[in-house]
Amino acid sequence: MAADRVEMSVDVSRTGAKIDRNIFGQFAEHLGHGIYEGVWVGPDSKIPNTRGIRNDVVAALKALKVPNVRWPGGCFGDEYHWRKGIGPQRAVTLNPNWGGVIEPNTFGTHEFMDFIDQIGSEAYVSLNVGSGTPQEAAEWLEYMTTQQPTTLEKERAANGHPAPYKVAFLGLGNESWDCGGNMTPDYYLSQMKIYSRFVRNYNPAQQDKQQMLKIAVGPGGDGPRWTEWTEVIMKGYQHHTWSWDINGLSMHNYTVCWENKFLSVGFGENEYSQVLKSTLNMDDLIATHSAIMDKYDPKKKVALIVDEWGGWYAPLPGSNPGFLVQENSQRDAILAALNLNIFARHADRVRGANIAQMINVLQAMIMTDKEKMVLTPTYYVFKMYVPFQDSTFVPVTFDAGTYTHGEVTLPRVDAIAAKDKSGKLWLEITNLDPNQPVEIEASLTGVTAKSAAGETLTAPKVDSVNTFEAPNTVRPKPISAKVEGGRLALTVEPKSVTVIAVEQ
Ligand code: AHR
Repeated sequence: MAADRVEMSVDVSRTGAKIDRNIFGQFAEHLGHGIYEGVWVGPDSKIPNTRGIRNDVVAALKALKVPNVRWPGGCFGDEYHWRKGIGPQRAVTLNPNWGGVIEPNTFGTHEFMDFIDQIGSEAYVSLNVGSGTPQEAAEWLEYMTTQQPTTLEKERAANGHPAPYKVAFLGLGNESWDCGGNMTPDYYLSQMKIYSRFVRNYNPAQQDKQQMLKIAVGPGGDGPRWTEWTEVIMKGYQHHTWSWDINGLSMHNYTVCWENKFLSVGFGENEYSQVLKSTLNMDDLIATHSAIMDKYDPKKKVALIVDEWGGWYAPLPGSNPGFLVQENSQRDAILAALNLNIFARHADRVRGANIAQMINVLQAMIMTDKEKMVLTPTYYVFKMYVPFQDSTFVPVTFDAGTYTHGEVTLPRVDAIAAKDKSGKLWLEITNLDPNQPVEIEASLTGVTAKSAAGETLTAPKVDSVNTFEAPNTVRPKPISAKVEGGRLALTVEPKSVTVIAVEQ
């Protein structure tokens, strides 16, 4: 197979915005086996665990340096009543959104905080604006964060945590235009102001530095309904007074086809190319909503937080359709890389994102089946991208060429570059073409490169997956580049994601 050639130029002297590590955030909802079994097995389980949280999952997630975990929903969040999930006696309730199953509430505030502590992450707590009250939410935050000897502080201490918890991000509702209460933008704005005003974080460590960031509900798709939503919220923000504020606007955008759901495995090049074409719409969507935000917030104080994204396919046959179980293939690895690159290119405005969802649900990092665990191709992409966390964007210019299949034409390659805190240059190259390798030749300006090596992730087929029986079908392998006279050359395999470090 003759490789096509793509010339790139990487100019390290022209750096851009910081790629906020929070774009690599995760989302863990009480949905299917996302929490129960995926994270929580209980202290009496035979599955090795620490205080009920499974050790294998914690070890795998630690390697991703997960910056934040959004919890408890999603749609579940707007029906969640935190008091049912604390203390020795937990209320047994229902989860009407997701399969109508029993919600034992054994995983509540303390268990979530223990989990994020075990994986070394931060809390992104989503408030119940749909069916809760501002008072309930305010009390939850007081329970979690105060250090003063209030009744709620004493209750938290009695439940095992005398020190205040840190809440890094606070979601003011979820999809309030739909499952979160079917609100109009104006109605949501007035509700959101009340939550922003009264739901306070009292943690002494979060008063000056590391203040909690409040994220308002933002758009959920393409078209006038969503641009109107962003207009209303951002116009409201422009006129905000001392008494309320927001630091972020959320955006939800799945790669999905509701009419004719794509399969997550057992598909060919048609579905591969169609799904990737659709995922690239993320770029336009971000550009459209960023432009509206620029009108009302030219200093870009409010971040755009894409706190639900990923591939959403048909549920696996035999699974509970309310559990949103799907396979995770090499197509998802490419899809993840394309989205992460889009976020990086919009780093000045996109300062957070949460892939949906972390374990066993939608485009997951990890799949479990009782005591078994398998890491997905998407997991490996997140692992390979760790060096990009809090790095500085470096522009890469290239003519991507094209890859065409049937009616679909896509760029043949995508790439980003960044400089990490130590000054090391990192380059990511995605080859979308599932049939042809690509020869990359990159000229490097502003850096004296000596060598370059890293990892590449490809697979036998576009729909290759890792299974419990064959967990290593899709795994990164080492790759090195030739470096000579300020130029770097390497060949990337078909349908691959490659990350290399340039040594100086
Ligand atoms: O991630 C699954 C669901 O998708 C979330 O609960 C909801 O916010 C979105 O519609």
